[in-house]
Amino acid sequence: MAFETIIYEKKDNVAWITLNRPDKLNAQNDTLRAEVIAALEQANADDEVRVIVLTGAGDRAFSAGADISQFPEWQPLNVVQRSKGTKRPYTVIREIPKPVIAMVNGLALGGGCELAMACDLIIASDKARFGQPEINVGVIPGGGGTQILPRLVGEKKAKEMVFTGDFISAEEAWRLGMVNKVVPADKLREAVEEVIVKLKSKSPAILKLAKIAVNRSLETPLSVGMEIENELFAMCFGTQDQKEGARAFLEKRPPEYKGV
Ligand code: COA
Repeated sequence: MAFETIIYEKKDNVAWITLNRPDKLNAQNDTLRAEVIAALEQANADDEVRVIVLTGAGDRAFSAGADISQFPEWQPLNVVQRSKGTKRPYTVIREIPKPVIAMVNGLALGGGCELAMACDLIIASDKARFGQPEINVGVIPGGGGTQILPRLVGEKKAKEMVFTGDFISAEEAWRLGMVNKVVPADKLREAVEEVIVKLKSKSPAILKLAKIAVNRSLETPLSVGMEIENELFAMCFGTQDQKEGARAFLEKRPPEYKGV
């Protein structure tokens, strides 16, 4: 599929999706949002893709959020319509049973911060900054900034970020548990490649169950989550990869997973 506002590349079983409006700090207009969803679905449908990476073009931004130049066109009814009727990155990324990594190379603001938070893992450059500055343009976050952020950093810090619009450094985001790893900007790709190598060495079938299990922990009371975990744990024993994993351990050799 040809894209206008993103770049889609597949290499060594990894789909790299690059938001590509660097002159606008990769701000998300309707086309870009739709293309990100389409690219994620393409990567999901492709059996050769084991890991998906989202990043931003240029050296300034992952994404500076919603394209504010489109705001004059927005009306309450079509905003509701667009949110309910169309797929949203958070839902799509959570439903994809493959690991999705945000490689945050610069500013991740508003919808950019929300897109990064929707990913399973965030690896950031030390130049990255995170923020929910929607308040400065007269709106509140609309893609998880008031819901996912408090779950990651706690209510008080989330309120501070959402109420003031102030940005936090990559280092602070890491201390708060919002980011998995922070590395010098020139080592970012390498750091992401290292995580990819690790993820590709695991069983895709078991990774899928692991992703479902952790996702559910955010949506259910503990007792229900524990039940779900137990069922998913039991499902592991129906896979060939579980048998291969245990056999390889006992035979003191690396496992050869088939993803089933
Ligand atoms: N929507 C549309 N365009 C945006 C944008 C956004 N969210 N963020 C940046 N841009 C555009 C700027 O308008 C500018 O375009 P221009 O060169 O045609 O004028 C270009 O990207 C570069 O941004 P600029 O503001 O000149 O860079 P800066 O270094 O002075 O400031 C920011 C960087 C991120 C602080 C500033 O761009 C900003 O506040 N952006 C809005 C972030 C935001 O509020 N996001 C949430 C939206 S709900």
